[in-house]
Amino acid sequence: MMKNLQLKKRLPKDVFSVVRKIGTLAEESGFFAYIVGGFVRDLLLGVKNLDLDIVIERDALDVARLLRKKIDFQLKTHKRFGTATIILPSGFKMDIATSRREHYAYPAALPAVCPSSIRDDLFRRDFTINALAIKLNQGNFGQLLDLFDGCRDLKKGLVRVLHDKSFIDDPTRILRAVRFEQRYDFTIEEHTKKLIDGARRAGMLKQLSRFRIGDELILILKEEDPLRCLLRLNKLCGLDFIHPSIKLGRGISAGFKRAKKYISLSDEALDGWLVYFMLLTCPLDAKQIRGLCRDFSLTKSCQQRLEYFKKNASGALKELKGKAALSNHRIYEVLQPFSCEGVLGLTALTESRTTEKRIRLFLKKLTRIKTALQGKDLERIGLEPGPKYRQILKKVLYEKLDGKLKNKREELKYAKWLSAS
Ligand code: CTP
Repeated sequence: MMKNLQLKKRLPKDVFSVVRKIGTLAEESGFFAYIVGGFVRDLLLGVKNLDLDIVIERDALDVARLLRKKIDFQLKTHKRFGTATIILPSGFKMDIATSRREHYAYPAALPAVCPSSIRDDLFRRDFTINALAIKLNQGNFGQLLDLFDGCRDLKKGLVRVLHDKSFIDDPTRILRAVRFEQRYDFTIEEHTKKLIDGARRAGMLKQLSRFRIGDELILILKEEDPLRCLLRLNKLCGLDFIHPSIKLGRGISAGFKRAKKYISLSDEALDGWLVYFMLLTCPLDAKQIRGLCRDFSLTKSCQQRLEYFKKNASGALKELKGKAALSNHRIYEVLQPFSCEGVLGLTALTESRTTEKRIRLFLKKLTRIKTALQGKDLERIGLEPGPKYRQILKKVLYEKLDGKLKNKREELKYAKWLSAS
């Protein structure tokens, strides 16, 4: 008896209805449709994942257009890749692609693709656990298609490639293998580990474009426990291919652990991966960091946050660690220009209790203090609008941070005094 995966229970109602309709359309028009990849893996593991990839043995764009005649959704086509994204009125997205074979013109190249069977499409994938599919055709709806023993490896907890050239074709899979292994507490299967070693000795990671290395590194840093992944990656093939100055010493490991704690406690919306990236790139100088940002195509905003951290972290830590009393406004002045990620990066770098306490004071209390006074109040007391407004409001805020102004009346009185002096 074929295993049936009870999609109805696992998918939101509107998504299930679309998936059902794809199955009906497939049956009526004489082609096969499947859900593939990470979603299937995570469904079997009982892990939440709503990243739906649909593969059909027919032109994906044609099918998506046909489907749109029956259901209301927004369609985004990516003609170059022959794929499309279906965006439901609820905002839910799913990708739809034609099943294909891949051909790598040279090792580590981006592959050329051509339409092919579902078997070829699954065989081109990275690991057996990611080469599982769910049939959507009416009659077989919800049944598992397991052509390469992915289920067995899921049960055994093994990350196993589908063929021996896998890491030569695509060395990013070395990083992916480590990521899945550490995420699910699996083991990289012995032969697969030997293939990783072979690819390392053949210098495959160095042949990868810097941009692809950056993308994979960021995915690692977005994992629940990036340190585990990096330690494992370091053991399997070193980290030189990221940058020769990056080392995983004891200091950085302790920093990562502290960062993990602070990121999980933070209620700010932040790029947690960037905190780890800041720690990892501590040994690099400003020019090297700029180079890495360019290589990895990081956004301007990420680059600015990284550069500010590089330039100012050690000075800030020195001052915050000092024994001398530090006024609230000075703590604010030191920390406020850092990004949220930068402030967490500082906390992760320090072992000083005083520094930690001061940063906590900044995050929990000082950032919440605002002046009651506003620009329009200054206008009301007859002050000419201009850059002076900002200076006055800043000074008022600093006095307030130090507890010297209790209410708006006192703020106004102080502002008047400042404008007169
Ligand atoms: N894939 C692959 N080789 C790669 C990247 C992706 O074979 N270098 C295939 C795998 O079958 C994978 C699917 O494409 O399952 C989707 O890729 P991606 O979204 O990157 O991976 P997920 O498996 O969904 O992993 P995650 O949970 O981290 O999103």
